[in-house]
Amino acid sequence: MPQAGKNTDFGFQEVPLEDKQALVDDVFHSVASRYDLMNDLMSGGLHRAWKAALVTTVNPPKGERPFALLDMAGGTGDIAFRVIEAGGTGTRTTVVDINADMLEVGRARAAERGLDDAVAFVEGNAEALPFPDRGYDAVTIAFGIRNVPRIEAALQEAYRVLRVGGRFLCLEFSTVDVPGLETLYDFYSFNVIPALGRAVARDAEAYRYLVESIRRFPRPDAFAEMMRAGGFGRVSFQRMTGGIVALHSGWRL
Ligand SMILES: C[S@@+](CC[C@H](N)C(=O)[O-])C[C@H]1O[C@@H](n2cnc3c(N)ncnc32)[C@H](O)[C@@H]1O
Repeated sequence: MPQAGKNTDFGFQEVPLEDKQALVDDVFHSVASRYDLMNDLMSGGLHRAWKAALVTTVNPPKGERPFALLDMAGGTGDIAFRVIEAGGTGTRTTVVDINADMLEVGRARAAERGLDDAVAFVEGNAEALPFPDRGYDAVTIAFGIRNVPRIEAALQEAYRVLRVGGRFLCLEFSTVDVPGLETLYDFYSFNVIPALGRAVARDAEAYRYLVESIRRFPRPDAFAEMMRAGGFGRVSFQRMTGGIVALHSGWRL
């Protein structure tokens, strides 16, 4: 697997592949109830703009036309809620996530918003989705793929459940390549984020892990290559906010 983003200069802990999922599960178990607040605090609200860009690209139909979206590693349902709000009455979403605590927060949020009918929350692993082939018009994954131990398996699963002509969109932290911003970003990532994690989610280690996982994730061109290897066509990506985030797109042709 390409590991272009791998960098041990920061003294990252090395986690064997078979232990990674348990570590990730602990992280999201620990932060589930404060996850949404932490997203706003850590990104200064920017995650909303990045997610809005993803939803604009999903572009669900406005009318009654049926449109089925699967949001992988969908956690507390943010992307699903936004797609439902952007789409018409035919839009239905499924959130699949490996962590029951994150899904529980999502279900409560859906009930509060009266969106229970338009979104289903399903516990499952992105590496082996509990869904039949070709059932979805679009598959998304936001800030999730870097947490999945076997990225190639998740890409293959996304491809499998997409209908022919369907689109896969992946929003993920990327590689900052603007001089100056890079130094600031490093300071923020390795000092401010763990401190926020300690103060708000009462778990600095969990947020240190999240920062490390960002730095280890493949560069966008390497990830685009992985998508092509997974069968996707017309693969492209768009960097946002100086490369802090990239939006990747591919089609099942
Ligand atoms: C950073 S959160 C992103 C949540 C949501 N997509 C968002 O943007 O707010 C990452 C999510 O990935 C989930 N996750 C990690 N490994 C997974 C796997 N193998 N299969 C499905 N979900 C997974 C975690 O449980 C967590 O909810």
